[in-house]
Amino acid sequence: MATIQLRTSIPGPKSKALAERRAAAVPRGISHGTPVYVAKAQDAWLEDVDGNRYIDFAGGIGCLNVGHRQEPVLAAVREQLDRYLHTCVQVTPYEGYVRLAERMNQVTPGKFPKKTLFVNTGAEAVENAVKIARAHTGRPGIIAFEDAFHGRTMMTLALTSKTHPYKAGFAPFPGDVYRIPYAYCYRCSYSLKYPSCDLYCARHLEDTFKRVVASEDVAAVIAEPVLGEGGFVVPPPDFFPVLIDICHRHGVLFIADEVQSGFGRTGTLFASEHFGIEPDILVSAKSIGGGLPLAAITGRAEIMDAPGPGGLGGTFAGNPVSCAAALAVLDLFGREIGNRFQKRAKEWQRRWPMVGDVRGLGGMQAIELVKSAATREPAADETKQITQYCYEHGLITITAGSYSNVIRVLVPLVVTSKQMDEALDVLEAALQAVCEKQGVAVQPV
Ligand SMILES: Cc1ncc(COP(=O)(O)O)c(C=O)c1O
Repeated sequence: MATIQLRTSIPGPKSKALAERRAAAVPRGISHGTPVYVAKAQDAWLEDVDGNRYIDFAGGIGCLNVGHRQEPVLAAVREQLDRYLHTCVQVTPYEGYVRLAERMNQVTPGKFPKKTLFVNTGAEAVENAVKIARAHTGRPGIIAFEDAFHGRTMMTLALTSKTHPYKAGFAPFPGDVYRIPYAYCYRCSYSLKYPSCDLYCARHLEDTFKRVVASEDVAAVIAEPVLGEGGFVVPPPDFFPVLIDICHRHGVLFIADEVQSGFGRTGTLFASEHFGIEPDILVSAKSIGGGLPLAAITGRAEIMDAPGPGGLGGTFAGNPVSCAAALAVLDLFGREIGNRFQKRAKEWQRRWPMVGDVRGLGGMQAIELVKSAATREPAADETKQITQYCYEHGLITITAGSYSNVIRVLVPLVVTSKQMDEALDVLEAALQAVCEKQGVAVQPV
């Protein structure tokens, strides 16, 4: 039997009733990509309160790389529930925190001695990475990228690029943040082509140090190894090595924000591994806790030890239940879904000019939709129509990209081949429906 089962019109009557209560009780600032209320979830599917069943291409925005409710994770959580839920590590520490720190120090890229600190969310982890980098270097400046997303707290909003809906109306943000273009080859800021560009965007950091901010005032460059909210952009293989070499020549640290690209999403535990790089500080969150809130900051031991005792921490930071779940998650990796997606998506690209770009690493895959392959004008309205079609046909998707024209795949990695094909059939039908409405000729594959 197919996984997708839509029994009512959606949202169904129970979801609609909950939506009315929600409108009265919850601020509108929290928006719902898929307005159906969840009753239960398992592996790569979820079921709403009206009994409709969906395949989940969003995975709680990349938090469920190992899948909903995996038994080894549940078992570790149950075992911890029977012992204690919370003590606050700054008051009375526990072994799970230390054991997980030891594991993180082993599994992150780089053979040098490392230390790890745990907090609750991706944004909190990025905030702490900035604090640690500043404490170590004694410098204030942070360089971030166009199309970057680092969170919704004030410092991480300063580092985030996209204005609406994230930043508009919330200024002022903390200062000493500088922005440079990412290696977004499909939309190169310098209108150059890789490899003849000779990585102008990476080398341009030298120029930034001359014309924008002196390197001796910069603590760190922070980057997502693959852009997440910015549209799943994968830089050329030599982009980060060149960039990091420039950083280190100037005593500037490199922070990898692997909140979305990490924890098995790209076929390796961290996307940094694809580029052969060893970040000075690496930030992970989302899928690390298998569905529970947890985030980690791992870095060179001497950098991590820069803040003095009491300088780091948080009441719930590194909660024992989340640590137990994360230890189970670390044991669970690896299904490859990227090849399956790429094969189908490349066919769509040949058939429909609207599919401008197909890209990704491992299970972190996306298509970028354009009104014309020649002008690359973003097809934001069509993207919305496609995600709406998917939603109405039982596939939960989310968009990304500064122009909201990227459809991304964050399906839990436990998705079966059959479910993946079923989901891709829905996405293909959505593309077909929208392209045909647009009058785009279907070219033979
Ligand atoms: C790359 C990246 N960094 C940071 C964050 C913020 O994480 P959180 O929402 O857990 O604060 C996100 C969230 O999507 C992210 O994708």
